[in-house]
Amino acid sequence: MAGITYQTHRMNIFNIAVLSSGMSRGSNLKAMANYFKDNKLPVQIVFVIRTKAEAPIKDICDELNITCHYIPYKERTLFEEKVIYLINYHNVHLLALAGFLKQLSPSFINESGVPILNIHPALLPKYGGKGMYGMAVHREVFNAKDKESGVTIHLVNPEYDQGDIIAQKKVDVSDCSNDIDVAHRVLKLEHQLYGQTIWQYLTKLYS
Ligand code: GRF
Repeated sequence: MAGITYQTHRMNIFNIAVLSSGMSRGSNLKAMANYFKDNKLPVQIVFVIRTKAEAPIKDICDELNITCHYIPYKERTLFEEKVIYLINYHNVHLLALAGFLKQLSPSFINESGVPILNIHPALLPKYGGKGMYGMAVHREVFNAKDKESGVTIHLVNPEYDQGDIIAQKKVDVSDCSNDIDVAHRVLKLEHQLYGQTIWQYLTKLYS
């Protein structure tokens, strides 16, 4: 969102947090954690938030030894207050959304004091907006007979999928025989792009 400035100074280690929902599988979380580890990057995922107790991402957090807070989303203001508390407490430098489906409020985006990135499984501005998540996206891409789909990583603003685009990558889906094929191909690309983009964004912003 135009006009936001973050408190930036040189960092020894970057703390990031991941905001997910009840449906999140945690595959992007795992891929980014592996990317940071394999490349020996000074990035630690200090916590994950899930909005349903039994969300599958909890098992991935257990496997990766990452704290996974359960904060039910009943009412936006209360939810956002709790997230801001954790962001401040853990000195978070960036918040990454992975499967979080609710709109964040303008005050949250301002008061969090950190950049918030989201990953979207299509080439925005196509196939974005309310209700466009998961298989709904891939179904539309397949039904439209698009030859390409892809991944978009963008800053979060108060409108669904409309923040500034940070990174985008295309993948050929012309030979996919159904929407599930499209979904697999896009997810593979998501896993390659999110960790790398977060790292590049952090180093650009805080160096
Ligand atoms: C991803 O497909 C991402 O594009 C979307 O939510 C999904 C999260 O998947 N925003 P996972 O939980 O990382 O497997």
